[in-house]
Amino acid sequence: MKENKKTFYITTPIYYPSDKLHIGHSYTTVAADAAARFKRLTGYDVFFLTGTDEHGQKIERIAKEKGMQPKEYVDEIVDWIKDLWNTLDVSYDDFIRTTDERHVKSVQKIFKKLYDQGDIYKGIYEGWYCTPCESFWTERQLDNGNCPDCGRPVELIKEEAYFFRLSKYQDRMIKYIEENPDFIQPASRRNEMINNFLKPGLEDLCVSRTSFKWGIPVDFDPDHVIYVWIDALSNYITALGFLSDDDEKYSKYWPADVHLVGKEIVRFHTIIWPIMLMALGQPLPKKVFGHGWLILEGGKMSKSKGNVVDPKVLVEKYGVDAIRYFLLREIPFGADGVFSNKALIDRINFDLANDLGNLVNRTLAMIERYFDGIIPEPGETGKFDEELKEMALKVPHTVEGLMNNLQFSNALSEIWKLISRTNKYIDETTPWILAKDKEKRGRLATVLYNLAESIRIISVLISPFMPNTPPKIWYQMGLKDSNLQTWESIQTWGKLSAGTKINKGDPIFPRIEAEDDLKEADEKEDKDAEPKKEAMITIDEFARMDLRVARVLEAEKVEKTDKLLKLILDVGGEKRQVVSGIAKHYLPEELIGKNVILVANLKPAKLKGIESKGMILAVSKEGELSLLTTDKLIDTGLRVK
Ligand code: ME8
Ligand code: MG
Repeated sequence: MKENKKTFYITTPIYYPSDKLHIGHSYTTVAADAAARFKRLTGYDVFFLTGTDEHGQKIERIAKEKGMQPKEYVDEIVDWIKDLWNTLDVSYDDFIRTTDERHVKSVQKIFKKLYDQGDIYKGIYEGWYCTPCESFWTERQLDNGNCPDCGRPVELIKEEAYFFRLSKYQDRMIKYIEENPDFIQPASRRNEMINNFLKPGLEDLCVSRTSFKWGIPVDFDPDHVIYVWIDALSNYITALGFLSDDDEKYSKYWPADVHLVGKEIVRFHTIIWPIMLMALGQPLPKKVFGHGWLILEGGKMSKSKGNVVDPKVLVEKYGVDAIRYFLLREIPFGADGVFSNKALIDRINFDLANDLGNLVNRTLAMIERYFDGIIPEPGETGKFDEELKEMALKVPHTVEGLMNNLQFSNALSEIWKLISRTNKYIDETTPWILAKDKEKRGRLATVLYNLAESIRIISVLISPFMPNTPPKIWYQMGLKDSNLQTWESIQTWGKLSAGTKINKGDPIFPRIEAEDDLKEADEKEDKDAEPKKEAMITIDEFARMDLRVARVLEAEKVEKTDKLLKLILDVGGEKRQVVSGIAKHYLPEELIGKNVILVANLKPAKLKGIESKGMILAVSKEGELSLLTTDKLIDTGLRVK
């Protein structure tokens, strides 16, 4: 019997292969991929389409400059683009090129049909033409009457062209948008379309040209090539076999659930495209989502900015999952956002290495140490268990709701709340203390089991966003059963089987060291030592001491000593390395996430060759040592006074 799954059809725009793409272009595709993967995970039959928009005067011109045929020129770039999507793990189901025969044929039929029914007619195109650039411009695009590209004078030209009767459909289009509030997202873009474009009135659209050749010929009038939007927008249905011998996919997947596009092309997708479909008597897409732009700190993004925006270079340097995470987490989907290496490194170090990476690492280290690397059978239940379970079972529902509205950043932030909750569970249950007491063994088993189970749920939740990380986690957890990696399996707590042997390995997200963290410290003793003080000090004297709340991000034993731990502290967003003589009293993993008090303006020193910038405060009595901490998990960087 045939399975009857619900379908989900999602598209990206088709990209111009006029140049290689930058990280901003990758944004649309990575977002579409996360949405597609999420729908597959939650049981949909997904069709995810991307492709390339290969015709037009600009490409014709670039190819000519390079002494190449247009097709030869675009083939090279299209290969590069496909390789980029593979590098970014984009799981598209089809890649349509507007030069594909299937597309060309179907577009010609669409054009003919619209012509035959009177929605396309022949007229005269009037516009401004820059001869050296071979470009057409509208009055509005001109720069003081000159070509906006080269600044040279333009001439008014007239040519015969075909026009599409947009004006005829204007009222139906306004009505459709008003009756379908979800059609254009975010809502602000809907108002813009109605007020700025539809209400003032639509002009008929020029849809053919005779002044260049690189395009799909109008088959009944071959001097004309089909111009830009009729060719490009049709890709969403030609890829499904619309008006071809095999239109099974069209019947199955159309109308699209989501067209994901950048904000500058929302207008074409919410006015021209739906009107084309209305004229063809076809259903309209359910949703067009216009996302914002990724900009550089210095301004607009372009390939000429070099390596900093080259997505392949960024993936090589930071890893594909880190790049995907950053793109989806940093900017609320819909808004513009800034791309910077600093912001990227912070996300990697805080969210990935510290929050997620350490959770996995600490948990597996304790299973290794206390249960010989075997996930224990849960025993005695206790405080905090219910709260953790409840949250772990609630988050998938919240995430699903957010993903249905393409709220990638909010969905990730919900998942990260569960990660933080799980980290907090470690601090609350203090497994290292339970481990000291034989009678608490059953409780210790429950705590470690619950941690592992929570990590399993987290790993499934992150899989649409970061497809490479869950397999790494599953390998380390020894989790081989694919039935425990499904959406279904995280609706119930406790599916993880005890008795599994783990394979604790390297941290799944190594920290990135920013260059300034590596500066050599001044080792010299200060010659002008402070004069001896009286027993009593003034408030001003106390104020010279810069005491700060800091949190332990990382802790590891310094090799060849049994006293020293190397700590990485977060001090209000800044990272500090401090070497501390507490290794006999604290295990590295029990320190992580703890607040400590740092003497922040202590002169840097080197201990066993390792730089230490500051000192953390502790008290000791007869060999027993206790670190000073804050009573509440208050923000780091705050001054102690
Ligand atoms: O517009 N930040 O193609 P395209 C975010 N061929 N998104 C960005 C971006 C940035 N800095 N730069 C580009 C086209 N994009 C047409 C589409 S569809 C029928 C035809 C996004 O290669 C841009 O918003 O110029 C668009 O969604 C996509 O990359 C392709 O842009
Ligand atoms: Mg563009």
